[in-house]
Amino acid sequence: MKNTALKVLAVFVFVFLAIQFIKLDKTNPNTDKSKEIVASAEVKNILKNSCFDCHSNDTKWPWYASIAPVSWVVTEHVDSARKWVNFSEWESYDEAKKLKLRKLIYREVALAMPLRMYVMAHPNAALSQADKESIRNWTAVKASDVSMRD
Ligand code: HEC
Repeated sequence: MKNTALKVLAVFVFVFLAIQFIKLDKTNPNTDKSKEIVASAEVKNILKNSCFDCHSNDTKWPWYASIAPVSWVVTEHVDSARKWVNFSEWESYDEAKKLKLRKLIYREVALAMPLRMYVMAHPNAALSQADKESIRNWTAVKASDVSMRD
């Protein structure tokens, strides 16, 4: 019995160590600073504080992003977040794309962003009511133009 438990443990340790060698892409692509979002200092600070770790090319990778399998989740989040909205490339989006994204942002500051998992590790990134208002004012979107259903 004891032997089986030890074997199981050994397998876990082996797998845990082995997965550490899987290579992940945790780079911050170089972008032309002129493409970075232009907004008031207030709005930019909120975005930097609460959104940039996933939605920009200036990700501050946390230590746990180096430990598999958590690292897989973190890199997946950053990859997919950058594909949706990348504030480092915002000024290269055309007006139609910006409008579509401003509507989504209007919605997401109330529904799901920043991701809850992230806020647990970064309590200071939680949006206050005032932060949400500032972001919403910046989007210049009318509530009636946005579907708040999930
Ligand atoms: C921990 C990483 C993380 C942070 C921080 C974060 N996001 Fe996201 N965001 C994501 C991921 C991952 C997706 C893609 C979700 C999906 O695939 O459904 C996403 C998607 C979005 C989308 C578009 C898609 C949708 O679901 O409507 C918007 C808009 C958005 N985020 C806005 C923000 C804003 C604004 C902030 C800051 C207040 C923020 N996010 C902070 C990870 C993050």
